[in-house]
Amino acid sequence: MAIGKRQWTRTHMCGALRAQHADADVVLFGWVARRRDLGQIIFVDLRDREGIVQVVIDPASVGDELMEQAKTLRGEFVVSIRGRVRTRPEGTRNDGIETGDVEVSATDFEILNEAAVPPFVIVDDVDASEDLRLRYRYLDLRRTRLQRMLMLRHQVARLARNHLSDAGFLEIETPVLTKSTPEGARDYLVPSRVSPGSFYALPQSPQLFKQLLMVAGYDRYFQIVKCFRDEDLRADRQPEFTQIDIETSFLSRDDLFVHIEGMMAAIFREVKGVELPLPFERMSYREAMDRFGSDKPDRRFGLELRDLTADFANSEFRVFRGVLDAGGTIRGICAPVGSYSRKQMDDLAAHVQVFGAQGLFWGKLDGGAWTGGSSKFLSEAEGRAMIETLGAKDGDAFLIVAGKPKVAFDALGALRLKLGRDLNLIDDAKNDLFWVVDFPLLEWSEEDGRFYAMHHPFTSPRDEDIALMETDPGKVLANAYDLVWNGCELGGGSIRIHRRDVQALMFKTLGIGEEEAREKFGFLLDALAFGTPPHGGLAFGFDRLIMLLAGTTNIRDVIAFPKTARASCLMTASPSVVPNSALEDLGIRVLRTT
Ligand code: AMO
Repeated sequence: MAIGKRQWTRTHMCGALRAQHADADVVLFGWVARRRDLGQIIFVDLRDREGIVQVVIDPASVGDELMEQAKTLRGEFVVSIRGRVRTRPEGTRNDGIETGDVEVSATDFEILNEAAVPPFVIVDDVDASEDLRLRYRYLDLRRTRLQRMLMLRHQVARLARNHLSDAGFLEIETPVLTKSTPEGARDYLVPSRVSPGSFYALPQSPQLFKQLLMVAGYDRYFQIVKCFRDEDLRADRQPEFTQIDIETSFLSRDDLFVHIEGMMAAIFREVKGVELPLPFERMSYREAMDRFGSDKPDRRFGLELRDLTADFANSEFRVFRGVLDAGGTIRGICAPVGSYSRKQMDDLAAHVQVFGAQGLFWGKLDGGAWTGGSSKFLSEAEGRAMIETLGAKDGDAFLIVAGKPKVAFDALGALRLKLGRDLNLIDDAKNDLFWVVDFPLLEWSEEDGRFYAMHHPFTSPRDEDIALMETDPGKVLANAYDLVWNGCELGGGSIRIHRRDVQALMFKTLGIGEEEAREKFGFLLDALAFGTPPHGGLAFGFDRLIMLLAGTTNIRDVIAFPKTARASCLMTASPSVVPNSALEDLGIRVLRTT
């Protein structure tokens, strides 16, 4: 169907015009990105999804009447333009835009719609606040930068879909109104009108359903799927986010890795023109923690952690003594920050305190001896041992955290990242993708005096560790893995428990009674009795993947209609209060509002 009074049909997208289109007669549709009126001649930058092209309107080509109309054009008016493409004269080419070699000389145009003055100028280096842009998200989404992000998102979704489909994976949808799933965050609840007082939970992931699809014999499943988690939000988290969710039957972990690595390689090849070296490296959780203080280490730079516990075994320094006697650990890093001021050192100390560290113990190596800060607490032998363990050189400083292992690792892991950034040690050109494997199955909670599943309660222990479940559960390693890219957890998964006896043992170890297990996961436990195949899978954070591929640090950039850090949508003003009548229907009374 032709459009407008002129009844034109589009011939080209604005952003697609190149030198090869010179002399072509074209019809373009788009938005006025900018109008420059030079009196005798008017330049209009016309924008569509593919980009921006310069249109020249002059009286010789369009006549006086249209020239007058051209003067009324304003930003964001919707217009159609007929004209001829011509290469721009030397010296007037614009390298800043992809259509910069050409312009379109208009012979006719039509205003299809007018636009109110937008609340901010729609340009890539926009200076409006993010809140304002989120409120008018449909205007923000007109910016080329965001359009490119969403196109990339589509491209990667298609690559993943094609890759997995070609390998025999079936895309199968799973319910959104369901029962609580075991990913460990808070659920978003949806009240049932027909059963007042009962609630659905939105899925934190399709975990249980994908396992049931394996029981049902579907063999290889995937889904690009929305997941919902009510948790504290950070730059790389959203309350509703998308996973590429995968599950397979009769595949070993290593065979599953081959599929996933192939998919990632295809995505990197198409999107970045990079050939990833295959297979990806694997690093044990233990090694990742020991060397980097993180289960998603950024390995693009050094500053690795060292274990100084043995060097201080006989320490008389009160703090170290206390930590060692309580079974804690002493870990440190060595960094070229010997020239840091007292204030800079205090800033580093403040950085570790948020992780519960008692303090940051530091000193500087000068002329072969430690000076400043906490150096006075070191005996000579300890000082010497530490130079050796840290491999310290003059101009370096030691930075030590003593405490419970979790505190020491979290604090130093974060400090290492900060120093890597502050000292400009991170090589952005590197793509470091690797698996972290052999996670502990369980995590001990001091607070609750019980074990929790580190991943979820359907993660299988390694076969060789099953016997340990009854004797030393804290030592059991899981058949679980994460894929890490440049210090970000892209995805994670596990081989699942498929035997009822092992599942029962797992619940017992977690202190989940039979009744509780039945109430929460009864349907899955029933299913395990009916011929469950050995199975396993994983899920990628799709938004995170796109974010990293696009080189942005803000997850909202890659989601068309994202939520703020307070989990609200500024455009639709949701969540919002609902009429009392709606609550009555649901049998609900609100006890508290903010
Ligand atoms: P997990 O909870 O590790 O595993 O989630 C998988 C991946 O999803 C991404 N992710 C998020 N992305 C954005 N916002 C969030 N709030 C958010 N939470 C998680 C991360 C993470 O690695 N069912 C299991 C997978 C399995 O075992 O197969 C699961 O959901 O990139």
